Amino acid sequence: MSSLRCHVFVSALLFISIVPFSQQVLNEHNQKLEWIVGKWRSEFSGKIFWPTVPTMTFGEELVINEAPIAKSANVQFLNFSARAWSHSTKDHFHDEWGFLTVDPVGNATLMTTGNNGFTTYETGTVSPNKLVLTLKDIGRISFSRDLPVEDLRRTFIRHDDRYMEQVIEMRTATHPKVGYLEHTRVVYTKLK
Ligand SMILES: *[C@@H]1O[C@H](CO)[C@@H](O)[C@H](O)[C@H]1NC(C)=O
Ligand SMILES: *[C@@H]1O[C@H](CO)[C@@H](O)[C@H](O)[C@H]1NC(C)=O
Repeated sequence: MSSLRCHVFVSALLFISIVPFSQQVLNEHNQKLEWIVGKWRSEFSGKIFWPTVPTMTFGEELVINEAPIAKSANVQFLNFSARAWSHSTKDHFHDEWGFLTVDPVGNATLMTTGNNGFTTYETGTVSPNKLVLTLKDIGRISFSRDLPVEDLRRTFIRHDDRYMEQVIEMRTATHPKVGYLEHTRVVYTKLK
């Protein structure tokens, strides 16, 4: 083996041994979310339902990782990215970026910003295989084509080591009158 190839090989080994380690430095609160950390993908299991739009199938990739800590805040967040596309037309749906953390009391907070023109502040509870978040506050660009969202509930369910499901239920200015209506449901496979 030439010394250059040997070097590349050793670097690759080093990289492989560092990756699992990065998931073990979650603080005691965020450890409750360890099961959600990773890269999750659904090629086309996603379904969008809404009274005013035809039911559609979508794919989505979700990446949740431990994020660097801002010294000023000293709060450990997981960062969050979600990228969705239409299965039939391959059109890009929307991207969401955000941060997720569990506070010392054990409640979870997710903040997101999306290129659909919304930012959300969601809080909720986390249990061993389930995270349920409800909307506490929302911002929306004034020129969005989407209707104002009045409430939202987001549930992540880990089925096993390989499968996780996300369900989003919501209420807009027009549907439903009370409570929530299921809007999206997607089952992801964990990527190695
Ligand atoms: C999350 O943080 C990690 C570590 O800094 C970084 O490599 C990754 O790109 C970040 N992901 C997102 C979606 O910001
Ligand atoms: C944590 O969440 C639960 C359930 O939503 C709520 O009853 C409780 O007040 C929350 N605790 C804090 C400190 O926010």
